[in-house]
Amino acid sequence: KHIDIKEVLQNKELIGQTVTVCGWVRTSRNSKNVAFVELNDGTSLKNVQVVIDKADDPDYKDIPRVGTSLKVEGKLVEGRNAAEINVTPADITVLGDCPQDYPLQKKGHTLEFLRTMPHLRGRTNTFNAVMRVRSVLAQAIHSYYQDRNFIYVNTPLITGSDCEGAGEMFRVTTIGFSQDYKTEDDYDAADFFGRRAGLSVSGQLEGEMAATAMGKIYTFGPSFRAENSNTPKHLAEFWHVEPEIAFAELDDVIEVAEDMVKHVIGTVLEKCPDEIAFFDAHFEKGLKARLEELISHEFGRVTYTEAIELLKKSGENFVYPVEWGCDLQTEHERYLSEKVFGKAVFVTDYPKEIKSFYMKQNPDGKTVAAVDLLVPGVGEIIGGSEREADYDKLIAAMKERNMNLDLYSDYLDLRKYGTVPHGGFGLGFERLIMYTTGVQNIRDVIMFPRTVGSIR
Ligand code: 4AD
Ligand code: MG
Repeated sequence: KHIDIKEVLQNKELIGQTVTVCGWVRTSRNSKNVAFVELNDGTSLKNVQVVIDKADDPDYKDIPRVGTSLKVEGKLVEGRNAAEINVTPADITVLGDCPQDYPLQKKGHTLEFLRTMPHLRGRTNTFNAVMRVRSVLAQAIHSYYQDRNFIYVNTPLITGSDCEGAGEMFRVTTIGFSQDYKTEDDYDAADFFGRRAGLSVSGQLEGEMAATAMGKIYTFGPSFRAENSNTPKHLAEFWHVEPEIAFAELDDVIEVAEDMVKHVIGTVLEKCPDEIAFFDAHFEKGLKARLEELISHEFGRVTYTEAIELLKKSGENFVYPVEWGCDLQTEHERYLSEKVFGKAVFVTDYPKEIKSFYMKQNPDGKTVAAVDLLVPGVGEIIGGSEREADYDKLIAAMKERNMNLDLYSDYLDLRKYGTVPHGGFGLGFERLIMYTTGVQNIRDVIMFPRTVGSIR
């Protein structure tokens, strides 16, 4: 039985013992009498070094090439410095040979190059670190909500109603790869068993149904957006965390958002010191200090109307000019969080025309109780609101948008049968990972990104 390289590097008591380790060769180097092989099994960003005394080893033929998988039995010895652990092998088994065309040779690779090989890039330290942080963040999100009495619910991915109403839904059809659809009509006839259906852009509507039954819930699953755009922060398939809280107003929603983001980033600081040090060194100088600052200071807060004033006063030459009523673009979001506040900032009370039908209408008649969380380097990572709890006002907002009320009769029932103030938000999980690691392209924080042109 083999042990993890992480264990080997951490447990100094193992020194002197004979163990079995497995891994892939990261680098290998020959000298006259000795061969050095750096072995990594993915459990650690660091390697163990296998030191082969050629004279000592009658079976020694050739140094294993980069990418070769090995099983090594040998004695652990301390290397030149305390951080380095060597294995003096008694027995080396080649599990799988690796030819010289292996693309992940020793030199550093650009993220763009690695994107061309999603099946292999997981073997680099960069992806290892991203995936470990991703995994720790996911667990921290679950424990944050579980520890506070939220029920984890799973909302459907195939759905008949468009939550955001932005026309970004993928359609679900019975079209199969094996079937031959010859005409457009054949294609149009294909649907979800006689109904129109699409892939969910958000679990919020079902989340509201759950929250107005169970009080506090959260979802954590994929959402889909048919966004035919090529940006560093949009995926067609992303992971979405959506808490929904009954008996809550906008301020309660904001409090949970801030507390949760601080909690999960705090957990990463605690559990992933090696990974954060790695990103600090290779992606964003000062990352650790930024994250420490973030979890110990209050986030900024500004209304949309104030934000527009700040942007107008800035004298910046934005690509999209700023006027009250315009949607905030990434350039505006980043200017506010990076230049004006220098930290994460909540923007509240957006014009109702640029937000969704379900948001609570403010007394001014012009704005809704919406909130976005904007962060440096990324822009929006959270979008949420207090929900319109009044039946008549909700119907009016839907009619203004020419929505088909029949499709939403279940949702409207929530306002008919014991309506309560409630609200929630959606956190883009990949955007949170970008913010936590300093990695700047969303394609590099998910193993198999789905964007325009990503299906191989
Ligand atoms: O702002 P959005 O569209 O809000 C909603 O979907 C609400 N129904 C959420 C709610 O209140 N329960 O999306 C929420 C978040 C965004 O802030 C962003 O972080 C992320 O989801 N997001 C995306 N992430 C990656 N790729 C995309 N195409 C995304 N679209 C939204
Ligand atoms: Mg949004």
